[in-house]
Amino acid sequence: MQLIDGKALANTIKEEIAVETAALKKAGGKTPHLAAVLIGDDPASAVYVRNKVKACEKVGFKSTLVRRGADTSEAEVLAIVKQLNEDPDIDGFIVQLPLPKHINEEKVNLAIDPKKDVDGFHPMNVGRMTLGLPSYLPATPFGIMQMLDRYEIETSGKHCVVIGRSNIVGTPMSILLSRKAKVGNCTVTLTHSRTKDLKAETLRADIIIAAIGRPDYLTADMVKEGVVVIDVGINRVDDASRKRGYRLVGDADFDGIAAKSSFITPVPGGVGPMTITSLLMNTLKASKKEIYG
Ligand code: GUN
Repeated sequence: MQLIDGKALANTIKEEIAVETAALKKAGGKTPHLAAVLIGDDPASAVYVRNKVKACEKVGFKSTLVRRGADTSEAEVLAIVKQLNEDPDIDGFIVQLPLPKHINEEKVNLAIDPKKDVDGFHPMNVGRMTLGLPSYLPATPFGIMQMLDRYEIETSGKHCVVIGRSNIVGTPMSILLSRKAKVGNCTVTLTHSRTKDLKAETLRADIIIAAIGRPDYLTADMVKEGVVVIDVGINRVDDASRKRGYRLVGDADFDGIAAKSSFITPVPGGVGPMTITSLLMNTLKASKKEIYG
C-alpha cells in the first residue's frame, strides 16, 4: 500500500507556483491576483476563504477579500461581481458558497465572466471541460487529477467507479476520467443513491472515487485487492477523546481498506489540501491568459 500524501504534494505544487510567480514578476509581468467574495457569517466559509487568501500570499499572488454581511441583497452581490468582472487587475475570483438563502446562487454564477471563473462552476467552463477544450477545472476534481498524474497511477483501460454525482465532484470526475487524455481513458461507472447493488460495482473497480459524504461508507468487503481509493469525504464523527470532541473521517474505512489497496488517500491530509492548490493553479492560468487567450 502506498499513501497518497496530499499535504506534501500540495506543498510541492505551491512551491512550483511560487517559483513561476517570482519569475513572472522578475520578468516584469503582472502579479496574479485572486479575489474572494464572502457574504454572511458562516464560520466554515470564513475559514475556507481565509485559507484561500493565505495561500495566495504564500505563493506571491495578490489577493482581495470582499466581505459583506448576511443582509446583502442579490443586486448588491451582482454589482460586486460586475465590478470584479471589469477590474483589469483581478485575474480571477470566486464567490464563496453557500450564499444566504435570499440570493440565487445560479444567477450569481451565471453573472461571473467565464474568463475569471477560477472555480470552474460557470456553464461555459463546465461545457468546455466536457468537450475536452481548455477550461478551468473545479478544485476537487483538478486536485484528484493532479494526484493521479503525479503518483503515476495508470488510468488507461482501467475501470473507475465514482460514488456520488454532485455537480462539483462526482459528475466532473466521471467526465474527466473517461476522456481521451493522459489521465483518463478509464471505463467509468457513476454510482449514486439509486444504484441497485453498489458492492457489485465497487468490487469490479480498479479505481474508486468516493464522494458520497457519509463516514466509512466504503468498507473493505466492497473492494478488490490492489484497488486505488481516492477519498473525497470530510465527515465529522463524535470522539470524546479529542479536545474538540470530534475527529474527521473520510467516506472510506481507511484502516480496513488500506491493506487491500495499492494506493489510498488519507483523511485528513489527502484530497483536502489539493483543492486550494487547484485554485492557485487556475488563478495562475487566468493571469497568463492560458485558457481564453
Ligand atoms: N464552498 C465549498 N466549496 C467551495 C468551492 O470550491 N468554491 C466556492 N466558491 N465555494 C465553495
